[in-house]
Amino acid sequence: MLTRSCWISGLLLTLAVLGSATAISDLRFDEDPNLRTPRIRPLRIEGSKTWGDGFVRMPVHRHRFNDTKPRRRPDRMRKPEHTGNARRDWGWSHLDDYQGLTYMIEIYIGTPPQKVMVSIDTGSYELWVTPKCINSADPTLCRKYGLYYPQQSSSASYLGSHFQIQYGTGSAVGKYYSDTMKIAMFQVPGVQFAVADDTNYTYSGVLGLGYAYGFTTTYPTLLDMMWALRLIGAPVFSMGLGGEGDGFSEIIFGGVNRWKFTGGLEPVSIWPPIDKQDPGWIQYWVNVTSFGMTKPGRPKSIYTDEQFTMSTLIDSGSTLSYIREDIVSVIGQQLNARVDPNGHYWVDCALRKQNGTVDFGFNNERMIVSVPFKDFIWEQYPGHCLMGVQPADAGTTNYVLGDTFIRGAYLVFDQQSDVVWIANYYNCGDGVVTVGNSSADTQFVRGAC
Ligand SMILES: *[C@@H]1O[C@H](CO)[C@@H](O)[C@H](O)[C@H]1NC(C)=O
Ligand SMILES: *[C@@H]1O[C@H](CO)[C@@H](O)[C@H](O)[C@H]1NC(C)=O
Ligand SMILES: *[C@@H]1O[C@H](CO)[C@@H](O)[C@H](O)[C@H]1NC(C)=O
Ligand SMILES: *[C@@H]1O[C@H](CO)[C@@H](O)[C@H](O)[C@H]1NC(C)=O
Ligand SMILES: *[C@@H]1O[C@H](CO)[C@@H](O)[C@H](O)[C@H]1NC(C)=O
Repeated sequence: MLTRSCWISGLLLTLAVLGSATAISDLRFDEDPNLRTPRIRPLRIEGSKTWGDGFVRMPVHRHRFNDTKPRRRPDRMRKPEHTGNARRDWGWSHLDDYQGLTYMIEIYIGTPPQKVMVSIDTGSYELWVTPKCINSADPTLCRKYGLYYPQQSSSASYLGSHFQIQYGTGSAVGKYYSDTMKIAMFQVPGVQFAVADDTNYTYSGVLGLGYAYGFTTTYPTLLDMMWALRLIGAPVFSMGLGGEGDGFSEIIFGGVNRWKFTGGLEPVSIWPPIDKQDPGWIQYWVNVTSFGMTKPGRPKSIYTDEQFTMSTLIDSGSTLSYIREDIVSVIGQQLNARVDPNGHYWVDCALRKQNGTVDFGFNNERMIVSVPFKDFIWEQYPGHCLMGVQPADAGTTNYVLGDTFIRGAYLVFDQQSDVVWIANYYNCGDGVVTVGNSSADTQFVRGAC
């Protein structure tokens, strides 16, 4: 494994190679014709404030999707097993008749640009898109947002190698390509990604945002390239999804929106540390140090003891959260949950209107993320509400903090310091601060709320 400081030069070398392999006429170079290194040319759109010096900001669209096919082991589109890497059998087998919510951003691929919507996923690390929707979990959604045809792009290069990703039940197989991508106002030439030619039980492309080049992949991903080309000042991105009625959701590469949280950002170290994780599968695992609840008009209660820690994966691609069953059960008792024969915890949807929170503690409660009931309780069908935490598969430690946690938090994923900075989500306005390549930069970003 390479360290961050040494892989950057390797990455720039790789970019030069990729650049020469791509259709040169479609790359945008600096004014100097002798300069062969691809450069980013900002394409400013009048009146837009979506980019600045060192950050790229994108609105995140929320989409509910339907499963149109019965599933034997329905799941939350999670846990890729990547060919060539250690296989992980996550064995997700949670929910039947699944209906989920996915958070998507818009990117443009190719020349002329083809608009593709992809789910943002902190639980995987590669970008893939699909031109084929027949077996999609939601063909309508897939056709509407997911299509990219390399044949229709003059800047596409076929790279030839085989791509395969396996989620719980979903999967995709395809081939690697490279092409020019436009993300917000910037063009990034020669980005490698996969084009699926067959998918099962997925519904659109996915933008994996985990640790990639020098760790889990042998090629730089979109995030790596944005950093290497200094489009962003550091391999850092912030996610403020917010809940219903909290305004827009956004992701900012290389920046932090101070008007989306209050107080300081708490640095929560990735644990196990990345050099102790499976090198083929490095993830944003962090220790949760307490679970509790604040009922309307009552003080906070904590249900775990002082020594409690639970290493849990922060995964934006997961609709629900999955934790130890005994804790789910305690929270369930407080919310008068009903447990169905499959072990799923259901609650009265009326609770979503109550002013209570479920509280997730970090760093011995130096940070407590309080997720409002309305964002914690997931209305799967009208009148049918699942509790935001469900039991992880028996006998496993596959604990996940999914969207039922993330909606209450402001998260800064920092691959430079190997921490996830965590704060409570608020929405009190708007204003982005770029973050540099020193963790101190993030430390001094204080919430404006
Ligand atoms: C999902 O299915 C329900 C019931 O069949 C339908 O009312 C709803 O419009 C569908 N949603 C989407 C996003 O297709
Ligand atoms: C999808 O499922 C079908 C039938 O089970 C199988 O033949 C095909 O290989 C699968 N495709 C992928 C990409 O896994
Ligand atoms: C995470 O928890 C484990 C015990 O479960 C502990 O050994 C470790 O030091 C914790 N890591 C951090 C970064 O707090
Ligand atoms: C909700 O509870 C908080 C304290 O827990 C309180 O400050 C706030 O005013 C309450 N809001 C409503 C609408 O009751
Ligand atoms: C960090 O940024 C400074 C200037 O902003 C630059 O000189 C230095 O090379 C950067 N370090 C890395 C590892 O990118």
